[in-house]
Amino acid sequence: MRLIIAMIQPHKLPDVKKELFNSKVHKMTVTNALGCGQQKGFTETYRGIIHEVNLLKKIRIEIAVNEDFVEPTIEAIIKGARSGNIGDGKIFVVDLCESIRIRTGQRGSEAIG
Ligand SMILES: Nc1ncnc2c1ncn2[C@@H]1O[C@H](COP(=O)(O)OP(=O)(O)OP(=O)(O)O)[C@@H](O)[C@H]1O
Ligand SMILES: [Mg+2]
Repeated sequence: MRLIIAMIQPHKLPDVKKELFNSKVHKMTVTNALGCGQQKGFTETYRGIIHEVNLLKKIRIEIAVNEDFVEPTIEAIIKGARSGNIGDGKIFVVDLCESIRIRTGQRGSEAIG
């Protein structure tokens, strides 16, 4: 099991949701976030030097998946979120030890799927 965490541009959320739906990924958590990447939140520098970071509004998507859905999920996010510009976002994939559906007590892949 893996936890896929994607940071995307807010205006790309509808496109990413559509692509995930097309790839049969229907479970997700979406939160508003602040963040910055390698541009430190700026696209221009002041006298060539940036002294601080500038946090920009981002959307954070979390999706727990079984192995067979890892690549389709990543591809769907990229398809929906990519414009080719800086700030398009990032995807992090982490190992997920356990998943438990509280209502039934199911664990592991049963609980995710
Ligand atoms: N190394 C990181 N650790 C934690 N969060 C990150 C990291 N890199 C990016 N993020 C998050 O992802 C968001 C989008 O990052 P962004 O797309 O700007 O990455 P980038 O590495 O600067 O690539 P690009 O040059 O294409 O802009 C950031 O605003 C931040 O929330
Ligand atoms: Mg960036």
